Amino acid sequence: MESFDTKVVRGVTLRRDPARETCFTIADTDDQMISWPEWTVESKRERIHRHMNNEMSTTEVAAQCLCDFPEADWDLRMELARQVWDESRHAMGLYRRLKELGGRKGEFPIANFEWAVSSYLDSVIGRITVMNRTFEAGTMDLMAFIPDRWREQGDPQTAELLDAIAADEIHHVRFANHWVHRLCAENKRNLFKVAHAVRFMNAVQEALAPSAGATNLAGVSVEDVTLSAPINVADRQLADFTDEEIAVLLKQNDLESLVTGERKSA
Ligand SMILES: [Fe+2]
Ligand SMILES: [Fe+2]
Repeated sequence: MESFDTKVVRGVTLRRDPARETCFTIADTDDQMISWPEWTVESKRERIHRHMNNEMSTTEVAAQCLCDFPEADWDLRMELARQVWDESRHAMGLYRRLKELGGRKGEFPIANFEWAVSSYLDSVIGRITVMNRTFEAGTMDLMAFIPDRWREQGDPQTAELLDAIAADEIHHVRFANHWVHRLCAENKRNLFKVAHAVRFMNAVQEALAPSAGATNLAGVSVEDVTLSAPINVADRQLADFTDEEIAVLLKQNDLESLVTGERKSA
């Protein structure tokens, strides 16, 4: 794997952001973003704009795996290549919808958090553990109810686009589950790479978590626009999480709910 440029955010070293057109303003943390809890025309565009960039980032994480790990098993590389195709289609679909709603690239700040964390890791198993099996699985939980929020807001077109995206995401999580289990069964050292990746991700999330009372550039409390969702058991089963893994996730989720109180909705 070739060396790459890094950046330091709140004392943590991460992979430097991927290239973006000059129209984009890059943020490192949630307090440098703009988002609102309300459903105005502008906030709808911001949600789509943010999601569009997340899809671009996911495209880049999978594509960078192909570049950085040419020795990875061919079948895993094929899965990653197909993922690049899916994610680029998702980004283009959201870009089209953004323009239909009067938006434009660069209208709001973007953050490449998932790229910066995942692509810093030096193993393919570490990257799919963090990107697919954790970040995308978390998105899968959110996608269980986000399309219905758009329908409630009288926007079935965006809801249908999100439903189509969600269907693809299940497979991205499933192939990561398959390969993490397979690679660990083949070589126990891979378990350490998975553990290292999860530890790194947790440390970064802790370091970059908003401080109490932090607001974003729109003056909105970061906490009020941070989305979380209950574990989407049906889709996690479709994505081949084992019953034991789902039980652990549900337990963690219950504990977090007790600490943070009521879950927020998208
Ligand atoms: Fe996607
Ligand atoms: Fe995906």
